[in-house]
Amino acid sequence: MTTSLKIVVIGTGHVGLVSVATLASFGHTVVGFDVNADTITRLRAGEVHFHEPGLADLLAEGVAAGRVTFTADPAEALQGADVAFICVGTPTSGEDDLESLDLSMVQAAARVVIDYADGATVIVEKSTVPPGTGDRIEAMIALHGRTGELTVASNPEFLREGQAVEDTLRPDRIVVGANDEATHAVMEAVYAPQLAQHGCPYVATDRVTAEIIKQASNAFLAMKISFINEIAALCESTGADVNAVADGMGHDRRIGRAFLNAGIGYGGSCFPKDVTGLYAVFRDHDLVGQVIGSVQWSNEQAMEWPVKALKRALWNLKGSTIAVLGAAFKPHTDDVRESVALHVVDALLAAGAKVRLTDPVALPKAAAVVDGEGLTMCTSAEEAVTGADAVFLATEWPEYVRLSPAELASWLATPIAVDGRIVWDGDAFEAAGFTFHQVGRKPGGRNGNQ
Ligand code: UGA
Repeated sequence: MTTSLKIVVIGTGHVGLVSVATLASFGHTVVGFDVNADTITRLRAGEVHFHEPGLADLLAEGVAAGRVTFTADPAEALQGADVAFICVGTPTSGEDDLESLDLSMVQAAARVVIDYADGATVIVEKSTVPPGTGDRIEAMIALHGRTGELTVASNPEFLREGQAVEDTLRPDRIVVGANDEATHAVMEAVYAPQLAQHGCPYVATDRVTAEIIKQASNAFLAMKISFINEIAALCESTGADVNAVADGMGHDRRIGRAFLNAGIGYGGSCFPKDVTGLYAVFRDHDLVGQVIGSVQWSNEQAMEWPVKALKRALWNLKGSTIAVLGAAFKPHTDDVRESVALHVVDALLAAGAKVRLTDPVALPKAAAVVDGEGLTMCTSAEEAVTGADAVFLATEWPEYVRLSPAELASWLATPIAVDGRIVWDGDAFEAAGFTFHQVGRKPGGRNGNQ
């Protein structure tokens, strides 16, 4: 038998809103709480403030069924709540020490529960936090005399932006860490309806173990990407094919093919922050963490590839016009945080190139972070590429992957294409007369002799 719970989700960003929609879809009553009253007004009007496929529809279903509401009033949100998920941001100033991670919003969210929960409530950390954060929240609970009523669990999320709804509805596993049986029992009730519909491993641990599972998972995936990016550089030097290497490795079930797509380095709001964050945790415990420490360094090398390739092809960047396809850090999202595409745009502008940038959904967010003389925002690939000296594919949106060499050649001033995501057919581009550069491929053809 499953029980319907009252759940509060604190923070209506990516993780928070997806949590609201999916928890409600499994029959719980869910309140989305945010201190930003404007965001709540927009959500009440059915407006989702970022691009995530399927999310607006699932939220609308929850609202129509009477299971989803939004409020900026903490007392209303917490009234009768069984569980309060903390889904707030954990910004970083980018340095690789623990002090650079700002956990004040996590602390403020915990404080809201401590101040307004009117009975027994489980506080759940869903935001990615360093190990030991749950202990700090527990200490706050004790300080405010609410031990016994309020307990703390860690329940990390593993969703990918752009596939967040599907990842959350049908995850590979659910991880819950708590230090007492009663808290575990409440969390089992949260996930019982979901597990009844889509069984997946339910990993129950103590709290700090769950906190580390999250950071270690992200760091491991980032390490896989950095590893294949280094192999890609070797393939470029030797004439080997990095995708065939990844396929050959990936058939080994101990390795797996996923996250072995070489490219221009990882970006986004998670991997860069979580890799440097975990490295900082190691050092905080007087440990070395050499493997993790080198992942970020390796990623920075991969991020330099596009500018080097464009320089090889164009000779001088100064005075050249380059069309950049994609601004988002990956397809199917408008998120541009730590987007390698924008890092490349900045580097090209700094080198004196003119850049014509386009993206199907991320241009408004890109415009807020990149700027400069020589930058033109274009609303279509055709507009961006027309008259450019070279085209650089930064984000593998399906509409860019589908572009043909003939089409691109008819728009470009000179037939130069640089593929940072290994999605264009190099042989077809070379047959069409292109100077073609691709990650993990020897310039001038597979064997470098054309
Ligand atoms: C990542 C993790 O995949 C999620 O499991 C996790 O929940 C999330 O972080 C988080 O901590 O919130 P996300 O950052 O949304 O998800 O996106 P990914 O699909 O993991 O891509 C991250 C970056 O790696 C992108 O820039 C992508 O282009 C790059 N990438 C990914 C590669 O270069 N190669 C690959 O094979 C895969």
